[in-house]
Amino acid sequence: MSKDLNSPFRTKSVEQSIRDTQEPEHALRKSLSAWDLTVFGVGVIIGTGIFVLTGKVAKENAGPATALAFVVAGIVCALAALCYAEFASTVPVAGSAYTFSYASIGELPAWIIGWDLVLEFALGTAVVAVGWSGYVQSLMDNAGLHLPPWLQGPDMPGGTFDLLAFLLVLALTAVLVVGVKLSARITSVVVAIKVAVVLIVIFAGVFFIKGSNYRPFIPPAQPRPSGSGLTEPLIQVLSGYTPTDFGVMGIFTAASVVFFAFIGFDVVATAAEETKLPQRDMPRGILGSLVICTVLYVAVSLVVTGMQHYSDLSVSAPLADAFKAAGHPVYAGIISFGATVGLITVCMILLLGQTRVFFAMSRDGLLPRFFSRTHPKYRTPYRPTILLGVVIAVVAGFTSLSELATLVNIGTLFAFVVVALGVMILRRTRPDLPRAFRTPLVPLVPIASIAASVWLMLNLPAETWLRFAIWMAIGAVVYFLYGYRHSRLHPARDTGGKPGGEGR
Ligand code: ALA
Repeated sequence: MSKDLNSPFRTKSVEQSIRDTQEPEHALRKSLSAWDLTVFGVGVIIGTGIFVLTGKVAKENAGPATALAFVVAGIVCALAALCYAEFASTVPVAGSAYTFSYASIGELPAWIIGWDLVLEFALGTAVVAVGWSGYVQSLMDNAGLHLPPWLQGPDMPGGTFDLLAFLLVLALTAVLVVGVKLSARITSVVVAIKVAVVLIVIFAGVFFIKGSNYRPFIPPAQPRPSGSGLTEPLIQVLSGYTPTDFGVMGIFTAASVVFFAFIGFDVVATAAEETKLPQRDMPRGILGSLVICTVLYVAVSLVVTGMQHYSDLSVSAPLADAFKAAGHPVYAGIISFGATVGLITVCMILLLGQTRVFFAMSRDGLLPRFFSRTHPKYRTPYRPTILLGVVIAVVAGFTSLSELATLVNIGTLFAFVVVALGVMILRRTRPDLPRAFRTPLVPLVPIASIAASVWLMLNLPAETWLRFAIWMAIGAVVYFLYGYRHSRLHPARDTGGKPGGEGR
């Protein structure tokens, strides 16, 4: 970090960050409570991860030990959440890890993290939209309704465009332009349905568990099919051993994938600026939603792998299909309906987080300032919302998404590393700042958070690392060609002590 305003490590002071949020033309409405935040958190956390990925990792990587994979991923997230909570309650400004890093480590690292979050949220939105489309189409099939094959999505045979995913993202964009309060209200209803469905899975499914399906709980390691190359976990490629599925390593591979199921608690932090009492409500919202989801995930995965042998689980709709296999299609229908409704909120909140990060970067001049003018009536950042909504809708329409989930995971884990570093740095550089929530045992917890996140990253496929590196390299080029010079902290942009007086 640096006080030299020509340095890419120049920092924006926490006070400046808070002042920026008070400029009327660039201010967001403060309307959210701790309850809204928890609902937001649960609304975005429970989604494709538990409804779809559970079956896939149980079948391919971990068997019944998928429950342990959820515990591992939950621990990694809890460590990161303790760091996020301190940052979010100290720097209550839109932009999440991006803003936090700007105030602590410097502009270049903040840019890196902002660029990284754009990847996480945009692709996450697209992944969930396509998952939703699949569930809707399966419900439509039950009713005898079918889209023309070419509109069923690129993952389907003969499909080119996913019409439903495309339309969902556009509809949610419109909701977000109209305002957070409206979306929060819709969210609470949908979240209630989703949680009810998850509870049905747990409490109805528990009666169909067969003990024999748990033996062995950790299936023995099996060599992977040869020639998988770049699709193998990086740690297994680097360690020189023959890569395996199942066994203890399989649990970690599974954890690096089901980690997707926890993404979202960090999104709660992006709404800090719209929170009435961020110092008190942020930590409650973040930690509360994380704990609720971890308990539900472990219970669901134990029930599902107990109902059906892991090798028989479905990979597209494992929760519903386990009930079908047990001879209860009515439960299966209810679960599919809940998943369909529930995935809408996940998509919407990821999209919200995405636009808020973009908004914060634009307000700082690192992206064109045009995007940080809020709507005169709705007070929402409508310009980035519309731009990104349309781009993501197109991506969701045309892209096959199986590999994108791991790319989202690596981006998020990378953000965790930067946030943990930021907590340690800000404690040293600004010990004076009031911290409503303090991460316990600093530096132990942040260091453990970094180690745990890096460990999960190493369990992701080598090709995911490659794609991530390419995305970040593009970001570096954009920063040095645009952001560095247009930043409001750049000396040439100084407008007589009142930074940022141009480009509105
Ligand atoms: N955690 C969210 C999901 O599982 C992103 O879909």
